[in-house]
Amino acid sequence: MCGIVGYIGERNSIPILIEGLKRLEYRGYDSAGVGVIIDNTCKVIKSKGKVSVLEDKIKKNYISSPFGIAHTRWATHGEPNEINAHPHFNGDNTLFLIHNGIIENFTVLKKELQSKGYEFRSETDSEVLVHLIDRFLKKGNNLLEAVRYALNEVQGTYGIAVGYLNEPDKIVVAKKGSPLVIGIGDNENFIASDVNALIAHTSQVVYLEDGEVAAVYKDRFEAKTIDDELIQKEIEEVTIELNEISRGDYKHFMLKEIMEQPQSVKNSFRGRLLYEEGTSKLGGLVGYEQRIAESDRIIICACGTSWHAGLVGEYMLEQFTGIPVEVEYASEFRYRNPIVTKKDTILFISQSGETADTLAAMKEAKRRGALVLGICNAVGSSIARESKAGVYIHAGPEIGVASTKAFTSQLVVLALITILIARRRNLSLIDGQSIIRELDLIPEKISQILELNDHIEAIAEKFVNAKNFLYLGRGYNFPVALEGALKLKEISYIHAEGYPAAEMKHGPIALIDENMPTVFIAPKDSVYDKVLSNIEEVNARNGKIIAITTESDSHLDEMAEFTIQIPNTIRMLMPILTAVPLQLLAYHIAVKKGLNVDQPRNLAKSVTVE
Ligand code: G6P
Repeated sequence: MCGIVGYIGERNSIPILIEGLKRLEYRGYDSAGVGVIIDNTCKVIKSKGKVSVLEDKIKKNYISSPFGIAHTRWATHGEPNEINAHPHFNGDNTLFLIHNGIIENFTVLKKELQSKGYEFRSETDSEVLVHLIDRFLKKGNNLLEAVRYALNEVQGTYGIAVGYLNEPDKIVVAKKGSPLVIGIGDNENFIASDVNALIAHTSQVVYLEDGEVAAVYKDRFEAKTIDDELIQKEIEEVTIELNEISRGDYKHFMLKEIMEQPQSVKNSFRGRLLYEEGTSKLGGLVGYEQRIAESDRIIICACGTSWHAGLVGEYMLEQFTGIPVEVEYASEFRYRNPIVTKKDTILFISQSGETADTLAAMKEAKRRGALVLGICNAVGSSIARESKAGVYIHAGPEIGVASTKAFTSQLVVLALITILIARRRNLSLIDGQSIIRELDLIPEKISQILELNDHIEAIAEKFVNAKNFLYLGRGYNFPVALEGALKLKEISYIHAEGYPAAEMKHGPIALIDENMPTVFIAPKDSVYDKVLSNIEEVNARNGKIIAITTESDSHLDEMAEFTIQIPNTIRMLMPILTAVPLQLLAYHIAVKKGLNVDQPRNLAKSVTVE
């Protein structure tokens, strides 16, 4: 979603801003803009579409300035066009602002400002902020104070950056609900909504918290709460390397991230397995293990792919800990007055750690007194910082919008939490040890699956023109069916549905004909024979079958048009393997359709609005 980058220093800000915006492209956006102070005037250049379009436009203007802020916009209020793109100006073009988030009371504020003579140029909610700040400037306040006063009147979420002609020595930033990071350089400072935009320049960062504002100068910064208390912020070190957010020789980030899984999965459990004790050790949960083990109930809350990981977690935790588990969409949880008690543990899963619904649900759960834990990938993200305790999945930055390696790493972490808790309840040492042994073998098994890439690509070739797809699985592989279908629809725009295999008879079977491909996730496990019966049912209606299985079986080979044979493991870990061929299948179908798999239409990597 919307991205923010800014620079104040001695170099020309333009290349830094453009490079920063390109590093944020993965978040999803539809227009972009920059604002600079140059020759005693404020200049704003905006364009619809890609950052490269903006870049060409800037080149034609030959601008150079040591002060600049830039934005990628993902439209919420007002269509994606140049006028609605940020930065937004005040009436006399001396003040310009970029904003991530949503101003909920913008209609009231807009009417009030209009009644005082303010004219609006765009349809955005964001524009009210610039006029509101202008109003407080006109009352004689300096920029930092005017921003504070303005934000006190605002309801909603924001990450903002503001430039002002009369105070060109500072960028003023503020945060509530949308991330904002200051990057500390040598006689130059940076701002961004995502550390990925900064790491080419500095690893020293300061994370603003909700309700904080800061004036960022080239050689220092001053932070306050919006209620005017001065605060000392800690400078933190970011450990992400530039190559982790580069595509390298891969055609797409998504393919790179799929291929990285043997390593990313290993990173998720490295140093966390206690072989002799048959359990795991999770630094972020130390001191909370017993409290979790004594929970009356575990609730898992997430969105999208992370929600699918949560469903697998439900199977794991219920099977091995015996604690009842519920999985909730974060957006539903926060609005339906959920019953939460102090004896509940709530796991919030989020790759980005910034998903607005998940963050809000977490705050609500905290208010109700439950133990709130985060499972995040992005280090320092809002959800990670907001949770009492938690576990990083350590998958490394994920840039492709369609989540792949984060999903498999989330499953690993859920397995680690499961054995940690189950060993405190009734999982035996021997059983704990055997799970750990199997987990240790997973990276090598993923490598074997990745060797099937050409085979899967050949299968994908046959289905480029399919209009619909059905994904079916049972037990642990039902959530994988949902995830396989999600991957396909996200990047190939083919309609796809995931179902528990047995549910097919209650509706989806009506869709099956010779044009309808069905992907069966059918490893040789305790429900294999049941899945075979479902395959028979599809076959009897001339449906086309792709089967993911663990062993060659002459019966299945005959029934399925295509089989993808993968290594076996224990049931609880099987989804980590079965997800991989489905990622590759979706990837190849989308590439063959000529689509932009890394930035699919309408989607955003990190959904920071409700
Ligand atoms: C967006 C992304 C999905 C992701 C979901 C939840 O919709 O496109 O890939 O699964 O948000 O994101 P999170 O960062 O909270 O896991």
